[in-house]
Amino acid sequence: MHNPKDIKNFSEKSVEPLRFDVSGNLIRKFGRESISNKNVAILELIKNSYDAKATKIEIDFSSVNTKEGMIAVSDNGDGMDYSDLKNKWMRIANPFKSKKSKNGDRIFIGEKGIGRLSAESLARTATLFSLPKGAYTEYKIIFDWEKYQDENALISDIGNPTFEFKKKKGDHGIRIEMKDLNHDWNNAETQTSLLTDINLLNPLNKPMRDFRIATKFEPSLVVVPKIKKEFLNKAVYSLKTKLTGGTLIRYEFSSINKKKKEGNLQTTRKLKCGDAVFELFFFYKSPKYFEQAIGKEMSQVESREISKMLDYYSGIKLYRDNFRVKPYGDANSDWIGLDIAAHNNSMYPRNDALIGMVHISKSKNSSIVDTTTREGVIFSDEFQDLITFVQVSIHKIFTDLRSEFESHKTKARKKKLPKGGKTHIVSIPSPGTKIIVPPVVNLVEIGGKYPENFYNQLQDEINICYEHNHPNAAFFLCRKMVENLVFNILEKKFPSRVDLWYDQKYKIRHKFSILIKNLYDERSNFNKPNVKTYIEKFNTEVGLFRKEANTKAHNVFEYLCDKKELNKFKIKDLVQLLVKIFDNI
Ligand SMILES: Nc1ncnc2c1ncn2[C@@H]1O[C@H](COP(=O)(O)OP(=O)(O)O)[C@@H](O)[C@H]1O
Ligand SMILES: [Mg+2]
Repeated sequence: MHNPKDIKNFSEKSVEPLRFDVSGNLIRKFGRESISNKNVAILELIKNSYDAKATKIEIDFSSVNTKEGMIAVSDNGDGMDYSDLKNKWMRIANPFKSKKSKNGDRIFIGEKGIGRLSAESLARTATLFSLPKGAYTEYKIIFDWEKYQDENALISDIGNPTFEFKKKKGDHGIRIEMKDLNHDWNNAETQTSLLTDINLLNPLNKPMRDFRIATKFEPSLVVVPKIKKEFLNKAVYSLKTKLTGGTLIRYEFSSINKKKKEGNLQTTRKLKCGDAVFELFFFYKSPKYFEQAIGKEMSQVESREISKMLDYYSGIKLYRDNFRVKPYGDANSDWIGLDIAAHNNSMYPRNDALIGMVHISKSKNSSIVDTTTREGVIFSDEFQDLITFVQVSIHKIFTDLRSEFESHKTKARKKKLPKGGKTHIVSIPSPGTKIIVPPVVNLVEIGGKYPENFYNQLQDEINICYEHNHPNAAFFLCRKMVENLVFNILEKKFPSRVDLWYDQKYKIRHKFSILIKNLYDERSNFNKPNVKTYIEKFNTEVGLFRKEANTKAHNVFEYLCDKKELNKFKIKDLVQLLVKIFDNI
């Protein structure tokens, strides 16, 4: 091993400095291997046109099915002159845009300096036509990406044939023709998915001024319904929350009935993300549920339209400076964890019943940055807290107000959110904790104030087993709960009569059936009103449970197949009776 101390200064001599060279392969690393999602590749080209101040961009897929197979993208932006081509287009990972934040009144969307390599990701060759604004010359460059695959090729050794022509001064923009395509676009599914992604590139309720994306597709192949911002008015409930300074959440909630609620919440800890806005539009697809909730009729036609639009556009999407960051909100990306929550609690909206948008900006959320693949952002504390903000908006605001508005349907729940005006405190879980939504359909309800702290945990375990269809596990845990409650009652009521709850000979607690019998035999000693009747009722009702709890625990052949089978044991009633007895000692 070389030891730096050994260097003898007198023998040091400067030689030609070594420089990095880059193999031609880099093009593929940043092209096909990074921007591997074909929709993302097209969207990158659209974003480049926006950055170049184009007012119109055209995505032409009409020749994908021809023998040659071509995708053409053209815009009427600023274009590039020879020097721009040389210093910007031909310089990979150029940080030029990140130095400047705006082009005129447009905030730059690109920043990594590799989006143009989408042209490599999509096809084997690309021809770029560039018509610089205000000039009389236009350029054409032909890229044959295969040349870069040559083992010995250095990136700067490869010449891409370049030509210049005369053009009219008024013409400007670029056109990229990509031929010999890398993907099979010739089916309805891929084209539909792309068209939907294009329609979702900017927020539905904020149509971009002066930026129109035109698409030319095979009309017989793709029919994606266009969505207008007016569609959002059909939402049964809409919520808008605004996070400021990491601690203040302002909300506005309204229903299709024009009922409104607004107010402020103060968080118990500062969220690490920058200012953000969340919008949620919740729909009922079925006329029956719509009517139950709102008391108005919904026509079949309307219901069909809502279902159709949600098929294409539902989910919570993330937008930065009004441009979508994929894949958040795609069909299989439940980044907010809503579907699990909705599974546990019917007041939670499922992803397929809502259109949601989270808006952030590069200036306020500079720590939330894209990965090189453009599929998602780099996971950070800031991003985690952005998720928390959305979860809190749904968990503490949406579900509460929805249940309040639908209280006629769900048996009035306590109003948790204050009336408008005042600021209230909302507790925020520490970073990384998942918000666990308690199940609504509970098998047992203990009430949360029991002496042995394991009761609450046991109750949660029972209810989770029940909710997730594990009836045998729920059943045995219920026996543990009932048995312990009877034991605790006897012990609390008769602390000195140990024989009632403890077998002194064998030094163990009495068996379940003896505990039940002792409780029943001693019922006259419980003097508070009604307690004696509770014990009598418990004694009658516990019969079946006691019997089966024993046989099912000890007999290998007995098994509960269905959680409905649990209903016959009236476990909830049994627990509630015991809780009342315990409370009245
Ligand atoms: N449609 C276009 N019109 C004009 N210039 C473009 C266009 N697309 C790309 N460019 C130029 O090429 C550069 C590289 O684009 P890209 O690789 O997407 O990186 P980034 O957008 O992050 O700068 C851009 O910064 C811009 O100067
Ligand atoms: Mg770009």
